[in-house]
Amino acid sequence: MNITVINGTEKHGVTHRLKEIFLAEFKDREDITEYDLPKDCPNFCNGCVSCTLKGENTCKDAEYIGKIDQSLLRADLIVMTSPAYVFHATGAMKVLLDHFAYRWMPHRPASEMFGKRAVIITQCLGAGAKSAARDIKHSLSWWGISKIGIFTSALQSNILWEKLSQKKQAQLTRKIKKLSRKFAHIDYTKPAHTNLITKIKFSCCRMMQQSLHKNDPAYLDGKYWAEQGWLGEVRPWKNTDAGRSGNTAQ
Ligand SMILES: Cc1cc2nc3c(=O)[nH]c(=O)nc-3n(C[C@H](O)[C@H](O)[C@H](O)COP(=O)(O)O)c2cc1C
Repeated sequence: MNITVINGTEKHGVTHRLKEIFLAEFKDREDITEYDLPKDCPNFCNGCVSCTLKGENTCKDAEYIGKIDQSLLRADLIVMTSPAYVFHATGAMKVLLDHFAYRWMPHRPASEMFGKRAVIITQCLGAGAKSAARDIKHSLSWWGISKIGIFTSALQSNILWEKLSQKKQAQLTRKIKKLSRKFAHIDYTKPAHTNLITKIKFSCCRMMQQSLHKNDPAYLDGKYWAEQGWLGEVRPWKNTDAGRSGNTAQ
């Protein structure tokens, strides 16, 4: 089983600690690849839209994005982590999500994403962890992922884990372990169920792509949809075995 982790901060603080507790459930048997931001995706999207119009390989940051994209496509489970910064995910995480705009459903979503599972881990001092998680969930769901587990917490104490009361530490550990066990017991040889909302979003994007492709057959997104067979009868959630590692997480 492959797990790809994207950390919205390089700091080994509370987010890191919670992520480590989450991964402990998988550690002895899984192939885990981690990316730390901003190190592994250091540059802003400059809005050239070359990824959308000419292909993701033409992005000035293709060397970073291509590597992460391949890792995400191989992953059975995607884990995204971030502390809340001013009520949102970190700027570094937003930079990565901007770079993956071309993977949103109105453009060129990867068929592998439908049927994948993801977990988001965010935390904060007082408030903002939920909206930070929403920032990430928004992208993941528009990439086509239906099964998304979310852990959020507000420490409401000193920012250093060591200064938290034993009771609070135990409470947070219990909560994240519960989510971890839930995801560790999934049979990853089977794709996750694609929910109705994802199917509706896909349907709307399909109508748009049908019209774009008719008007301009050379338009990259429309061509991609046609090549996938999505403008016809093929649906990505009926073909989600590709890109799966084939191991069972039981
Ligand atoms: C730039 C910045 C903005 C922050 N904004 C918030 C916020 O909106 N709400 C909050 O409760 N805590 C906020 N915090 C506090 C962090 O979310 C909190 O200390 C968190 O535990 C840090 O996680 P880390 O140890 O993984 O870095 C902010 C911290 C920084 C550095």
